[in-house]
Formats: sequence, C-alpha cells, structure tokens
Amino acid sequence: MLNSQPIPLSSPDVSPQDRQLVLDVLSGPTLSLGPMLPAFEKALAAAAGTQYAVAVNSGTSALHLCVKAAGLGAGDEVITSPFSFVASSNCLLFEGAMPRFVDIDPETYNIDPALIPGAVNERTRGVLPIHVFGRPCDMETINHLAARKNWVVIEDSCEAIGASINGKLAGSFGQSACFAFYPNKQITTGEGGALITDDERVARLAKSWRNQGRGDGGSWLQHERLGYNYRLSDVNCALGIGQLSRLDSILQMRESVAREYTARLAEVPEVIVPAPVKEGTVMSWFVYVIRLRDEFSRADRDRILESLRGEGIGCNNYFSPIHLQDFYQKEFGYRRGDFPVTELVADRTIALPFFNHLSPAQMETVVASLKRAIGSLSRGVVSVPELAAAAGR
Ligand SMILES: Cc1ncc(COP(=O)(O)O)c(C=O)c1O
Repeated sequence: MLNSQPIPLSSPDVSPQDRQLVLDVLSGPTLSLGPMLPAFEKALAAAAGTQYAVAVNSGTSALHLCVKAAGLGAGDEVITSPFSFVASSNCLLFEGAMPRFVDIDPETYNIDPALIPGAVNERTRGVLPIHVFGRPCDMETINHLAARKNWVVIEDSCEAIGASINGKLAGSFGQSACFAFYPNKQITTGEGGALITDDERVARLAKSWRNQGRGDGGSWLQHERLGYNYRLSDVNCALGIGQLSRLDSILQMRESVAREYTARLAEVPEVIVPAPVKEGTVMSWFVYVIRLRDEFSRADRDRILESLRGEGIGCNNYFSPIHLQDFYQKEFGYRRGDFPVTELVADRTIALPFFNHLSPAQMETVVASLKRAIGSLSRGVVSVPELAAAAGR
C-alpha cells in the first residue's frame, strides 16, 4: 500500500532568511574566504562553548585535521567503537594510526567505557568517542581514564551539536572535536563541517591545513606546510549562519518529534525505542532509530525496511558496523562475532523518517506502516503472543 505522500527519511529545513543570506553572498564579489567564514566560525565557537572553530568542507575533513593536530601516526593506536559512520575510524587510517575497537553499551550505543581498559596496550595514544545519534558519551569516565594515561581525547561530535552533560557541551571535553553539516544533520551547510577546540595551536594549524598549508600573512602562492583544500565557501557559511541562529528552536522541534514517536511506539511491543537520557544529559536528536527486539533477525529487519520503502516511507539501517565493512575485513582481518553488541544492535536498527517539521499525521502513517510490516513478518516467523511474552509486556 503506497502512501499518497511519500515521507522522506530526512528533510533539510531552509528558511526564507537562510535563503536571503545565501543570495546576499551570491550578489557580492566574494564567494570564498570572505566575511561569512569568520562570522560562521565565531557563531559556531559560541554554540560549541569552545574558544575556536575552524569551518571546513566536511565532518570527515574536520576529524582528519583533529587527528593530524594530535600528532597521531604510524605505530599509534586510538581506542574507538565500531558502531559509527566509517569516517570516524578512516580519519585515523589517513594518518597511519590504527583504530582499536571496543564494543558499545547496548542501551546508549556509545562506547562502553568499562571495556576500554581491556583494549589498552603500549601503543595506545588516544581515545575517540563518538556521540552516537546525538547522545553524549560518558565523558567523565573517558576523560578520567585518558588523564591517567595522558591520552589525547578527540570527540566525534558530528551527530551531536548542542548536546550537553551537566551544561557542558559535546565537543568541548577533549583536545578537539568535529561537527558535520550534511543535509541530514540538525543544521546544514549543504556540505560542510567544523573542527572546534580550545587549543590555539590546533586552531592555527587547522586553518593552515584547510587552505593548502598557507600561513596567516603569506601570499596566495606561499605554502608553509603540506596542506589540503578543505575550505568551506562563503555560500555554505552564509547558510550555516542562518541555520545556527535557529539551533535552539531546531533542537526543540526535533526533541518534541522524538518524544511523540516514543509515545506512539509504546503500542508496538516488537521494538525498542531510544533509551531515556541520563539525568543532567541533553541529547541533540540527529536521527530517530528504533531497534527490533533480539528475537528478530537481520533478514527480518531488512524485510521490514523493504516493506516500509514499498509504502513510500524513507528508512534505513543505522549503522553498518565499521569492522564489517569490506576493506576493514580484508585489511585487518575482522570477522562477524568480533564485537557482539555492535552486531546485535546494528542488525536490528531502523531509522524512521525524522526532521524538524515531521507532522503528527506523518508519524501516524509511519507507525501504521511499521506495524503492518512487522505484522506480516510475524505471521510467517514467530507468533505475536510469543513476541509479547519475550518482550515482557
Ligand atoms: C559519526 C560521524 N562521523 C563522521 C561523519 C562524517 O561527516 P561528513 O559526511 O560531513 O564527512 C559523519 C557523517 O555522517 C558521522 O555521522
């Protein structure tokens, strides 16, 4: 049954004011390295609670520069988790450093700090926690472990702009952190990202690296060091300024959509909704990801995704574990079974349509389609009463 109006998985929210800011740049003479770049960076640093922000062309570029600024390289290992987007460990490989994976907490989907000590060896130089889906990691425990061992802490905050723990913002706990602004993110610049830090040296180096290794006062054809073109144009920055000025209201809208989904899904016993956040923690909702109960298989989940898509409902699995990506298996010998919690979760996740202006009627449609998809599945696989018993409801 195809819904008359398809519902996308995500949808950018570009306001008339955002458009005007972009048009103003396009009407002027400077499309890149103009006034929008420092203006966006100033607003970002304020929103992140850090001294410096360096805007770049993607979250991946930002994280790469975090790793480079930390001086990580061949022979170094960095502790991180495999339940993430592949870029979060690729950025270590770019510099010749190795990710050392530890499994996740089955409730938060973030790195399980209790497992970190078991992954430490003489090559360990840092820890790279990922605030998965916008839920802050246990930074107190992570920073405590890191301080004892003198490790560098780099936060992958690509999904967590505006999240906080006891008032301290995600991205401000380590040496540096990254944000990402792809159109499915809380705020977008089309493509884009930013490195944030309190360390003047890191900020200065990142600004040089993003601009072909140029120095502060040097000419266009003078290059102080090996650099990249990771620049973010003024067109993108203008959009970012508009979006960032609405961050609080955007995060509120997303939180209320998430809350309403959770209430509606109370009547679907086959799914596990996102866990409530801990006291003092504020989540920045990036995606709304449910998980099928353990009795379901990956094949069941894939059939549900197919069925939802068949009804015009945008959805996806989130994430595909990094250690099971083809080249990680080929290069490093990872196998299924290496990180059981990550695999258990990743095999059963379903990201539902989620964006600022998702309406109650659209949510009703999504939940009805989900129930239909699960219903047709359970007829062939396992009976609903069995499931309800297993779910303890
Ligand atoms: C956790 C995480 N890290 C890194 C990135 C990379 O960001 P980008 O796609 O902007 O390069 C993303 C983007 O989706 C992400 O979700």
